[in-house]
Amino acid sequence: MGHNQLSITDQRTGAQYEIPITDGTIRATDLKQIKTSPDDFGLMTYDPAFLNTSSCRSSITYIDGDKGILRYRGYPIDELAENCSFLEVAYLLLNGELPSAAQLDEWVAQVKRRTMLHETSKKFLEGFRYDAHPMGMLISTIAALSTVYPEAKNVHDAANRRKQITRLIAKMPTITAYCYRHHFGLPYIYPDNDLSFTENFMNMMWKMLEPKYVANPILARALDILFILHADHEQNCSTNTMRAVGSSQADPYVSVAAAAAALSGPLHGGANEEVLHMLDVIGSKDNVSAYVKKVKEGHGKLMGFGHRVYKNYDPRARIIKRTADEVFSVTGLNPKLEIAKELERIALEDEYFVKRKLYPNVDFYSGIIYEAMGFRPSLFTVLFAIPRVVGWLAQWEEMITDPEQKIARPRQIYTGHDERHVMAMAER
Ligand code: SDX
Repeated sequence: MGHNQLSITDQRTGAQYEIPITDGTIRATDLKQIKTSPDDFGLMTYDPAFLNTSSCRSSITYIDGDKGILRYRGYPIDELAENCSFLEVAYLLLNGELPSAAQLDEWVAQVKRRTMLHETSKKFLEGFRYDAHPMGMLISTIAALSTVYPEAKNVHDAANRRKQITRLIAKMPTITAYCYRHHFGLPYIYPDNDLSFTENFMNMMWKMLEPKYVANPILARALDILFILHADHEQNCSTNTMRAVGSSQADPYVSVAAAAAALSGPLHGGANEEVLHMLDVIGSKDNVSAYVKKVKEGHGKLMGFGHRVYKNYDPRARIIKRTADEVFSVTGLNPKLEIAKELERIALEDEYFVKRKLYPNVDFYSGIIYEAMGFRPSLFTVLFAIPRVVGWLAQWEEMITDPEQKIARPRQIYTGHDERHVMAMAER
């Protein structure tokens, strides 16, 4: 007893194998030796959607889904949300340690220097219809930035990586604000570097003719906290996409564009927008039970509920719920909060959801706050992408510098035809 290895007997051949167990895993390639004959390819694992497959070693984010634990570089998410700014947490995710005051000042100055967009980006944005979805505009504009910074493809140059990483983090709010202003035919507002990261974002979104935009400090801080909560989440769908695309040594701009495309799906980051649509369809507290009944009968899902990893309350949802009260003290209560709370109350008592361990996730309450702050639902997933670009880039850099990693190229189980031959057209 006690050896870190798996003893396997292949009943097809009677052969026995000892497979080493490391960090609670076995290497899939160690199974290749299990063959029925010398020309057999060897055993593979089969794990559609990677339900039980680790793809990398990472020291960035730790999640315990059963206990509802989330830590960035070892720090509990609620402590970071309580005590840090978003850029401070971005520094932590990228560098592994919280910054000193001097390091933070230098980092903030570097980001502020790169908030402007190349003027050609405006012409690019002008090409979109006024009602184009902001996620489509964001994804396209980020990819287009790879043509503005061709040196970004030198992914093995550490200083070059850092420059591109800083550019992307700095420019996400600017692109977002420009997408919003384009929709309304409003002039673009240039960054104001006197302001903090979130105050400047609000400035570029909402400044009109006043000489200087003044952000409500409670709303700016709430946005900072929301950005901290969304910054990284280990190997989620969009981060897996970032790592896969980046593994071909594609530049970070097109890799981020791919990751943002994955995030836009309604099962992932697109869920926050879908939650608002769901609450609009429900319409009032009294209709919640009937809506839940339909979901249990298989008609649609409770958007903002459930998670691949969390089988307990998403710790981020708990913090967002607390932040909602601060926002509503400024904006007034969003009536949809009552519907959301009733939905949560009923779902958490109902055997259907309890049995499947379905709890509110990060997307359930975030949209209600964003809407109260003045953001349109079509912008919600973009608001997810702004902070998540930090996680995507931290994970991307970890992958690029990981000696174990190479181009991502999974195998398959072939279920198609055996060899067959082309017939003349007349015979088909
Ligand atoms: C994010 O991975 C991450 O970390 C993501 C994220 C991050 O920070 O990057 O946390 C952000 O994407 C949060 C998730 C946002 N998505 C949603 O809120 C959409 C609604 N949720 C579901 O689509 C679902 O819960 C997922 C996609 C989140 C998780 O899907 P899984 O792990 O593949 O689970 P599943 O679909 O196999 O569901 C298991 C069962 C099924 O029922 P049975 O077939 O067993 O009868 O639970 C049911 C599902 O039908 N179920 C739901 C449900 N989610 C799962 N039923 C009703 N409503 C739901 N929301």
